[in-house]
Amino acid sequence: MVGLPNWIDARWLRLFRQRLTRWYALNQRSLPWRTTDNAYAIWVSEIMLQQTQVATVLAFYLRFLRRFGSVQELAAADESEVLKYWEGLGYYRRARQMHTAARTIVADHQSEFPKDFKSVLALPGIGRYTAGAICSFAYDQPTPIVEANTQRLYARLLRIEEPLTDTETQAALWAFAEKILTKQNSRSINQAVMELGSLVCQPKPRCQACPLVELCPTFAEGLQETIPAPKRKTVYEERHEVALIAANSQGQYLIRKCGPDEWWAGLWDFPRFVISIASDVKTQEVDIRTKARQIFNLDLCDMPPLFSIKHSVTRFRITLACYRATVQSQPKNGEMRAERLLSGQPSRWVTLADLDSIPLSASGRRVVNRLAAKAGSKRATETL
Ligand code: ADE
Repeated sequence: MVGLPNWIDARWLRLFRQRLTRWYALNQRSLPWRTTDNAYAIWVSEIMLQQTQVATVLAFYLRFLRRFGSVQELAAADESEVLKYWEGLGYYRRARQMHTAARTIVADHQSEFPKDFKSVLALPGIGRYTAGAICSFAYDQPTPIVEANTQRLYARLLRIEEPLTDTETQAALWAFAEKILTKQNSRSINQAVMELGSLVCQPKPRCQACPLVELCPTFAEGLQETIPAPKRKTVYEERHEVALIAANSQGQYLIRKCGPDEWWAGLWDFPRFVISIASDVKTQEVDIRTKARQIFNLDLCDMPPLFSIKHSVTRFRITLACYRATVQSQPKNGEMRAERLLSGQPSRWVTLADLDSIPLSASGRRVVNRLAAKAGSKRATETL
């Protein structure tokens, strides 16, 4: 476990738990997911609360549970009906993943919501916080939780001046979240820290209403407006990439499936690679040809530029230059064997129409839209 500050001793922890739980008993809001120990109902609430305010969730939660009262009922429903009951909450991926997880529970756990932390964590859409919340709220297991409200509270109690996203800060927050729990009663401790973070230890904290004020070094030093620190600014890096738009004589395009270590693992994209910007066009062309051969085993003869698009991935701001690539050495039957051309990953020749139903990277989809727009305007001028 990461070292915690030396004031977090047995006496501090005893006072912390006493004052916190007494405050919670008097101040907690009455919320429907707090009056149940049904893991399924708690799971539904936690998924809905992931990106949505309590006030909005309330109405949806009750309606959802009236229709899908158990894991079996959720698993047996059509996805479209589940999504219908989610309409208005947004972030539909949560609902889809929950539906998939319900089917997994029926298939792999005899329709019983799993009880051990690892099995809960393994379900789709459930991360470390949600698994901890379910195991603690439903089964009273001493599983730690760290989410937006609690991490602000913990950072102040630990007087952490570094941004919350730093790896060491996260490790300290999780270590503290574990330390405050006892073998029993973790349910109330975890509910109470969330409630205190949500109602009192807010971004602009209400320290005069806080039961922990005497235990808080951040309050003692008047740092409550500066802890937690704002996020570190992302330092963006400019990056230049090339996408090769190879078309064959049947108007099909060459695409490849991204490998497991790539950004868009499992999605399809045009062959693309990073380049360094050269001072003259000739050198640039040589660089592109060399990389096309080395990385994708593609020999380019002709390569007119088509268009560029800009997009961002993590800290990279990417300029993607798209080139039409005529590929050398067509086999005798006129059909190039795509799977031999792009070493390593599967690849295919597909029409623009095929691309509608193929899962592409977001930037790959933008390239396709530009190609379709070009093809459309070409057809339009041809018919004039
Ligand atoms: N946000 C996420 N989980 C919550 C809970 N159990 N109670 C209140 N707000 C929450």
